[in-house]
Amino acid sequence: EKGGWSSFMAKEISEEPEAIAKTLLGRITDGAVHVEELEPLRDSLAEINRIVILGCGTAAYSGMLAKYAIEKWAKIPVDVELSHEFRYRDPILDEKTLVISVSQSGETMDTLMAVKYAVDAGARTLSICNTQGATIPRESDAVMYTHAGPEVAVASTKAFVAQIAAFYLFALHLAAVRDTLTKREISGLLEELQALPDQLATVLEQHDKIKELAGWMVDTSAVLFLGRHAGFPVALEGALKLKELAYIHAEGFAAGELKHGPIALIEPGQPVFVVVPSPRGENSLHPKVVSNIQEIRARGARILAIAEQGDAAVLPYADVVIPIPLASTLFEPLLAVAPLQIFAMELAAAKGLDVDQPRNLAKSVTVE
Ligand code: M6R
Repeated sequence: EKGGWSSFMAKEISEEPEAIAKTLLGRITDGAVHVEELEPLRDSLAEINRIVILGCGTAAYSGMLAKYAIEKWAKIPVDVELSHEFRYRDPILDEKTLVISVSQSGETMDTLMAVKYAVDAGARTLSICNTQGATIPRESDAVMYTHAGPEVAVASTKAFVAQIAAFYLFALHLAAVRDTLTKREISGLLEELQALPDQLATVLEQHDKIKELAGWMVDTSAVLFLGRHAGFPVALEGALKLKELAYIHAEGFAAGELKHGPIALIEPGQPVFVVVPSPRGENSLHPKVVSNIQEIRARGARILAIAEQGDAAVLPYADVVIPIPLASTLFEPLLAVAPLQIFAMELAAAKGLDVDQPRNLAKSVTVE
């Protein structure tokens, strides 16, 4: 069943371009989003004034990216919350709140209980889920399935990129319903979304180079990950993958937070992955992240940069650069995360660990 791959995880990473393509398939026509599954929410989508996204682990990180996309494109305020924190703090919900749960398995107990709480409080509910007929979609007003195919490895990979693709489709649909983007803007963004599978395939071609890097780092005891804006959830996800697979202490930070504490951790030889925003990015974060790189490099950090192809500004300071193709800011995470997944997997493999079944973890967490 692994089809020649050394692990399910390796196979599932290789399936990421296809997972994105399948999630988009049949849902884009004539430059617009058509998702029949959203019909039950048709009236609600025009009336809601707030969105709350619930998930755990990797799923919650896809929710962070969804927040950026929905707020930018559809102009509705979004809160993202860990499902297990949500119902224990008297959250404010009403019929004008749309609660979107995101879960690969659709069985995560923390998320299920949070959805039930939202239903009881009168909120509208949408489930983004990868498993047909799972419990969470059954408890929700509507479900938008990701079509990543079954994910066997405990570490979530292809489901994550499919979740982001589904969220972006949803965000663009919402922008159309609420008239916050023009048809032309929407069709342009959809074209970029549809280009991602081919772009991601070129990133995956760097597997051997990343494997080599992981091989050099088997004795590493801590790795830091920095990102900003759309790169921040990628940094968090890179750190989570390394913890769960390679049992290495790893932390993801928003790059702007460095000077507020974490920079004290930097000592000579400390490996730091940096997800570098595009130099063409509309929000001019690139120079700020480059100056973060300079600061930590001056303190001896080893910089492993994931940067846009041709980004000359990082070259003088990076020990290794993993280039990704040109993409708009919100699409970069779909290209930048695979190298970090591969790195964690190959480092775990180099340490002789079981990458599909890391210790102490289960594929779906069905207890609270
Ligand atoms: O099935 P779910 O998407 O609800 O699972 C949520 C988390 O348990 C899951 O993403 C977990 O963090 C993964 N092991 C990460 O690789």
